[in-house]
Amino acid sequence: MIAPSILSADFARLADEAAAVASADWLHVDVMDAHFVPNLTIGLPVVKSLRKATDLPLDCHLMIEDPDRWAIGYAEAGAYNVTVHVEAAGDPVALAKNLRAAGAKAGLSLKPGTPLEPYVDVLKHYDTLLVMSVEPGFGGQSFMAEVLDKVRAARRLVDTGHLRLVVEIDGGINADTIEQAAEAGVDCFVAGSAVYDAADPGVALERLREQAAR
Ligand code: DX5
Ligand code: ZN
Repeated sequence: MIAPSILSADFARLADEAAAVASADWLHVDVMDAHFVPNLTIGLPVVKSLRKATDLPLDCHLMIEDPDRWAIGYAEAGAYNVTVHVEAAGDPVALAKNLRAAGAKAGLSLKPGTPLEPYVDVLKHYDTLLVMSVEPGFGGQSFMAEVLDKVRAARRLVDTGHLRLVVEIDGGINADTIEQAAEAGVDCFVAGSAVYDAADPGVALERLREQAAR
């Protein structure tokens, strides 16, 4: 699956930018609060408007403090998947249950330096694992190949039936990096600049899809 990130899109033309990637699987929406990460982006009002502007499933990636308080609003706004950061969540198991009760898939994200092993039991309550392959905060950064060991470990846990998760990767995914991520066992690839900086975002995303399937 390919999830273009609108962080690299034109925020004044979000409906058009979503339409430009109509063949995507999910539309990735980066919510940043200038506290959990040093950048500020968009929040709930924009997600509510986007929900009306596109049929694509919204994959909301919350890079915010206190997701226990705020994440549920995104589920209620119609997000398909709501991902919170384990480094910020107070009670990630309760949070996953609340997100699912509100009708969304629950996602848990790990920053590059955060290990997987301590959270395997927590992940039994989640639908998506978002492995960060850059430090969260900005688009256009370089891929950190060292996180692929974490992807391989997650893939093994899924393939052996210990977890049921979509394994998603986010950061620095482009024509040069997507094949190694696919080989490590990623199911869903977030791509911001590689899609939206291209002359034709729709073509760019289909090229990435072909490369991932090789
Ligand atoms: C970064 C965001 C990413 C970002 C990826 O903190 O979570 O989703 O949009 O952008 P690229 O694909 O350009 O690295
Ligand atoms: Zn993201």
